[in-house]
Amino acid sequence: MEKNFSLRKLNTFGFDVTARYFQELKTMDDINELLSNPEFVQCRDAANHVSAKKNPPISCKILILSGGSNILFSDEYFDGFVVYPNLKGIEILDENDENVMIRCYCGEVWKDFVDYTVSRNLYGLENLADIPGKVGAAPVQNIGAYGVEVKDTVYRVHTIDLFNGEVKDYSNEECEFSYRNSIFKKSRGYRVESRELIYAVDFVLKKHGELRLDYGNIRNYLIANNITHPTLQDVAATVKAIRAEKLPEVGIVGSVGSFFQNAIVTKDIYLEIKELYPEVPSYPVDDDSIKIPTGWLIDKAGWRGHREGHVGVWDKQALVLVHYGGGKPKEILDLMKKIQNSVKEKFDVEIKPEVNLV
Ligand code: EPU
Repeated sequence: MEKNFSLRKLNTFGFDVTARYFQELKTMDDINELLSNPEFVQCRDAANHVSAKKNPPISCKILILSGGSNILFSDEYFDGFVVYPNLKGIEILDENDENVMIRCYCGEVWKDFVDYTVSRNLYGLENLADIPGKVGAAPVQNIGAYGVEVKDTVYRVHTIDLFNGEVKDYSNEECEFSYRNSIFKKSRGYRVESRELIYAVDFVLKKHGELRLDYGNIRNYLIANNITHPTLQDVAATVKAIRAEKLPEVGIVGSVGSFFQNAIVTKDIYLEIKELYPEVPSYPVDDDSIKIPTGWLIDKAGWRGHREGHVGVWDKQALVLVHYGGGKPKEILDLMKKIQNSVKEKFDVEIKPEVNLV
């Protein structure tokens, strides 16, 4: 266990946050040892007190940190215990003529896992190529891109409760997946009192699948590159190329991808916006609500490419806030509030962060 550990390399925003305690977990034995680590036990007791709305004996939060690509620390000191699960391994559990069931441990890098499946001609994850982060975090917010969500291929999620050591397997249904959400985010996930650690995820992928080309620019990009009969590998490469055009490169410019969730608005609000901007992009959700891309709202409110101090709004995708280095988390939080107020004032829409605020 490390004390006063810098998380600068473990959050893709690149903020220099220090954690009071930090423990990397590489094996199941490491996890079991953690459960009796005296500092961890103290923090766990404190978290239990907080959950029971009692005063804790000491102040100490617990955080399960994965790839750090969807997290914003509000302060430069994390007064608590950061648990960093990093179990590695990919195993084929079962296969038949149509499907392959694969177990992937939480510490595998998501984009490498996608490349592994694509190179073996397995269908299902190709549209999710190049998403930053690790496999263990993928189910937490049900990562999605280009018309596909991870829930479409997740078969089971394996967890261990850091408070009582209980091991549990969640079926796909039990995960309660929805747009950028799951049971792990709703009730557990990255909340400071989080307790269930995802140590492995089982996926079912197809040997003969259908390519999904209808979202965004995928089809146009293929046509522009004279690819008339795209393969699985062509689709993954196309997604990577489109992402590279729109999103800042991880490790070069600090960001967490989409900072905000897309907005779901009432029909009335949508019609008001459409009257002023007939070109507003939208996707129906149900009879009364419509999804409007928040990137479009922020862009129309004039923020795209805006820079203040060490932070700003990415010039190719206004949904993405960036940290150019040397800044503090507060600068992003201030910018977030300004953008939220501005979008509220201009469109009467409240936009919510997608990033986990800790
Ligand atoms: N738009 C603008 N200006 C902008 C940004 C977007 O006008 O600055 C317009 C675009 O022209 C397009 C629409 O808004 O008409 C939607 O934009 P885009 O297709 O780029 O996707 P998005 O809705 O902004 C979502 C996900 C991304 C994912 C893409 C592609 C969320 C919060 N974000 O973005 O996910 O890669 O679709 O599927 O749902 C992430 O979660 O970190 C992420 C990058």
